[in-house]
Amino acid sequence: MTEGVDASSAHLPVMFPQVMEGLRIVQDGTYLDGTFGRGGHARGVLQRLGRGGRLLLMDKDPDAIAVAEREFGTDPRVSIRRGSFADLGTWDLMAGGLDGVLLDLGVSSPQLDVAGRGFSFGKDGPLDMRMDPDSGESAAQWLARAEEAQIADVLWTLGEERMSRRIARAIVGHRDAGKPLSRTTELAELVASVMPRRKPGKGRRDIHPATRTFQAIRIHVNRELADLEAGLDAAHAALRPGGRMAVISFHSLEDRIVKRFIARHAKAPAGNRRLPEHTGFVPTLRSVGGATRAGDAELAANPRSRSAVLRVAEKRAQGSEVQP
Ligand SMILES: C[S@@+](CC[C@H](N)C(=O)[O-])C[C@H]1O[C@@H](n2cnc3c(N)ncnc32)[C@H](O)[C@@H]1O
Repeated sequence: MTEGVDASSAHLPVMFPQVMEGLRIVQDGTYLDGTFGRGGHARGVLQRLGRGGRLLLMDKDPDAIAVAEREFGTDPRVSIRRGSFADLGTWDLMAGGLDGVLLDLGVSSPQLDVAGRGFSFGKDGPLDMRMDPDSGESAAQWLARAEEAQIADVLWTLGEERMSRRIARAIVGHRDAGKPLSRTTELAELVASVMPRRKPGKGRRDIHPATRTFQAIRIHVNRELADLEAGLDAAHAALRPGGRMAVISFHSLEDRIVKRFIARHAKAPAGNRRLPEHTGFVPTLRSVGGATRAGDAELAANPRSRSAVLRVAEKRAQGSEVQP
């Protein structure tokens, strides 16, 4: 376990009231928080559950699971499993179905804050970036073997980094010179060294030049988009009629996946919306309220909420009426 496994460093749970309202918690329901983090949302769900309710907690991160065990491990309503929400369907406790699923995507504040996890370009640490440090390749391992074109492709597609080719060339040049990257600050400095200098205040928001590179590599090594696709399918399958999924995304690639997933299960394919009976399309979800963003008070208090988008969908009963 890394240092700093501390529930007191918990960030404010993003869009807390909207998530609680979206999940519409019933006292004896069964809920899954697939991204426990430090348990801000989980605590809210538990407060709304009665004695007959159940809360299933998952996280890939051993530090998050350690906090879950410590804070909620003795609550008879709670079960805890370390793993990806992509695999939630393999948990036997899921067999009876769920009344709600929460996925609050991305990294937690403690993951960013602890230098040893290697997520932050601002803190020197091993170039790791894995939410589950026992699975898959670290960022350093991947960068030590990936082809230049693959690195450029990841930076472009997952980070929308316009200098993707230039950065990939520099990374590969560095390793070909016998200096494979092993520290976060090495990568951050290398990226900054090849970026064109911008006049302060000109062009895009003044963000650190390595922001997009770190984001892209993190999404890649954690297979975040593939996990999201699989997690949505699994959550959809596990929900009981009337059960709800609430998903908070932090960038457009995630939100697009969530939006399209809900639309695919809620609406007949374009062109046939008025004729669902002819296409054989049976909607299984109902979108609840579209895309929701944090309110002004939260935006002022919690900068992380700036990019958050919440979407909620409800599982339909089979054969339920379709609103035009
Ligand atoms: C934004 S934080 C969640 C914060 C949490 N809602 C709270 O109130 O403290 C995201 C968490 O999800 C975890 N995570 C991200 N992707 C995951 C996945 N595919 N499966 C399980 N956990 C995941 C991360 O390890 C991190 O702890």
